[in-house]
Amino acid sequence: MPSDTDPSSSPLPFEGRTIALVGLMGAGKSTVGRRLAEKLGRDFYDSDHEIEKAAGLSISDIFAKHGEADFRRGEKQVIRRLLDLQPHVLATGGGAYLDPDTRAILRERAITVWLNADLETLWRRVQKRDTRPLLQRADARDHLANLALDREPFYSQADLVVHSKDGPHTHTVNAILKALQTWIPQ
Ligand code: S3P
Repeated sequence: MPSDTDPSSSPLPFEGRTIALVGLMGAGKSTVGRRLAEKLGRDFYDSDHEIEKAAGLSISDIFAKHGEADFRRGEKQVIRRLLDLQPHVLATGGGAYLDPDTRAILRERAITVWLNADLETLWRRVQKRDTRPLLQRADARDHLANLALDREPFYSQADLVVHSKDGPHTHTVNAILKALQTWIPQ
């Protein structure tokens, strides 16, 4: 029997809507999103992964061969397509929510959750992989700091904000579930 303190045992006001995680590279959108989906018994999609599958190329290769503008066009199409699927958990690429059309459709069709994390945490996490073309530069840390500043006005338009801290992912998953309980359909 689920315990009263288990946030996933409460009625879900957000049934019927995809939960879309937005936020910077290293915020934990994919890792946390996958676990959130497991907990809710939903499918999980990662927009970057879907773009790679559709293009048959890695994100780095798409940037290198076709440029960022093409990547952004693909990202918009992929997210639009994913939002037609049954309610799931969606990890969006860090830049997706900046596009006005993508932001509008996410806000209309999904519950958007900004996974926010401090710069130290983001920087520590992004250094584990070299697959992010925007950070393949000598001043990557400064660039990440600038992206955080530039993008905050967009991410802060998400329906909910959850802080992504280091530590067990279940803490962040539970924080998202708790935040979702406060979501009121517009
Ligand atoms: C990007 C973030 C990446 C990926 C691409 C661009 C961005 O996704 O979409 O490298 O503009 O912030 P993650 O946020 O999953 O790393």
